[in-house]
Amino acid sequence: MNSEPLGSAGPVADAAPISNRWTRLVGVRHPIVQEGLGPFRTPRLAAAVSNAGGLGTVSMPGMPEDIESGARTFREHIEECAGLTDRPFAVNIPVGVDAAGRVLPFTDVYIRMVLELRRSDSEIARRLTVMTTSAGFPGDYVAMIKDGGMVHQHKVGATRQAVKAAEAGVDVVLAAGFEMGGHAPAAKVHTYVLVPSVTEAVDVPVLLTGGARDGRGLAAALAMGADGVAMGTRFITSRDNSDWHPAYVQALLDATEGDDVAFDGVYGPCRGLRNAASEQLLAHGASGLPEDPVEMVRWKIESMQRAQTTGDTTDSLVMTGQVASAITDLIDVAEFVPGMAREAAEILRRLASSVAAPEPVGA
Ligand SMILES: Cc1cc2nc3c(=O)[nH]c(=O)nc-3n(C[C@H](O)[C@H](O)[C@H](O)COP(=O)(O)O)c2cc1C
Repeated sequence: MNSEPLGSAGPVADAAPISNRWTRLVGVRHPIVQEGLGPFRTPRLAAAVSNAGGLGTVSMPGMPEDIESGARTFREHIEECAGLTDRPFAVNIPVGVDAAGRVLPFTDVYIRMVLELRRSDSEIARRLTVMTTSAGFPGDYVAMIKDGGMVHQHKVGATRQAVKAAEAGVDVVLAAGFEMGGHAPAAKVHTYVLVPSVTEAVDVPVLLTGGARDGRGLAAALAMGADGVAMGTRFITSRDNSDWHPAYVQALLDATEGDDVAFDGVYGPCRGLRNAASEQLLAHGASGLPEDPVEMVRWKIESMQRAQTTGDTTDSLVMTGQVASAITDLIDVAEFVPGMAREAAEILRRLASSVAAPEPVGA
């Protein structure tokens, strides 16, 4: 392996407001992740989050017909991120499966590309130390990712999936609640129910994903036994997300309660804004959308990418978490990430100071 040993927290970790087994495992200062936001560009956002002491994630670029060209795009995004940060960062790769349960080619090509890139470039290997898989079960890739020297995180939407992933050897589980943005768990379990069940069921570190937006969310995640939070929507609405069309970001800032909806996405339910495109999808059958499943997947991905690149937030699919309804401002990542950790630490201290001391034994 070309990378430095995983698990070295670095000289600043002692001074961090919150450090735990996950921050030590991954070698970052704050238990805060910008999670994968595919099929969109996130190399600059990922670098900003990693530079701020969190863990940024380079997202998968989509599944073009020519998967090798997709892998080249993905590689360029990883190289761009590595050129902008000296800190650890992650990649996110969904495990797509066909109707027969076979892993789709894009997953295999992207995972192998990342492992080969790390083998051939020690500078990238030193920074790109975490792989987060999502959607389907990662199966044989667990050993491959571990042998490649990476920390393997896997995102699940049900407790039984968390147990299965941990038993397979995954290092970290992301417990994804149904209020999350993008592809949401088919089991439709919300964060507040899922996270305590998952943390009870597995011994590996757990990150909450879905609905967090500030230090209160992080403190709550820690109280439920998690080791940190992985956010999407909060980081989309940031000044460091200059790769995305401003109208997409503005639509999220404008969203209020009830403006989100779960529709049928690429790997199951997907949460986004209620607009003409998602209404058309919900009314599918009467709406003239592609009948062929492969064409339908392509239509959805193109629609999602159009929203992000052209800012069409009416007739294109705009993925977002429910938490957009509570977000009204843009953040600067460099201030936000340490500020969120400080806020969570202050909340936990304040709560601890208001709790009565335990009764002396035998009283
Ligand atoms: C626009 C968008 C795209 C996403 N793309 C992916 C993806 O490619 N892979 C993945 O595992 N999760 C994806 N997600 C889910 C996020 O990684 C994260 O788990 C989620 O946003 C957490 O919920 P939150 O938005 O409430 O913070 C996406 C979410 C959004 C909003």
